[in-house]
Amino acid sequence: MKEIVHVMFSREQVENRIKEMADQINEEYGMKPLRLICILKGSVFFSCELAKHLKMPVTIDFMSVSSYGNSTSSSGKITIKKDLEQSIQGVDCLLIEDIIDTGYTLSMLKPMLLERKPESFKICTLLNKPDRREVEMEADYTGFSIPDEFVVGYGLDYAQKYRNLPFVGTLEFIEE
Ligand code: XMP
Ligand code: MG
Repeated sequence: MKEIVHVMFSREQVENRIKEMADQINEEYGMKPLRLICILKGSVFFSCELAKHLKMPVTIDFMSVSSYGNSTSSSGKITIKKDLEQSIQGVDCLLIEDIIDTGYTLSMLKPMLLERKPESFKICTLLNKPDRREVEMEADYTGFSIPDEFVVGYGLDYAQKYRNLPFVGTLEFIEE
């Protein structure tokens, strides 16, 4: 099977949109310190690009959860593979996701993190697939809403490949 990537959002489009998101976050948070909660691995590229434009004192922590394996559909349950290193009690937190699809991951993760009593908790996602939603879950900041197509690049993978593409693309499979 041959895989072909088609550009959905160019590097310039993605980076311009992330800059706009950062401007909005800067405006809303002012100079209050902010903890970015980066969900590994997909959100790494997005988190870094966003963080570069944030003006408040920023700290970053990482969490790894799995709901996916190598397939392209969600299993409906998550396990924490790597937890945050620092307490978020009393901290303003912004969770960074690569994509909200069915909504299951965040619908399970959000209450788990709220139990740790952050000062505030918001969600920022680069991509949103509203047509795929199975549970109610909305981000506070969304880069792009996209149709129900599997996307790769800018952190997103297919079987761990393509994360390093500097753009967001769709994958086409061709029989050889
Ligand atoms: P749920 O369904 O829990 O999914 O909202 C969130 C997680 O699913 C993965 N996901 C994708 N990964 N291309 C990807 O590379 C996609 O089109 C896609 N859709 C969902 C992703 O890991 C996300 O964190
Ligand atoms: Mg992910």
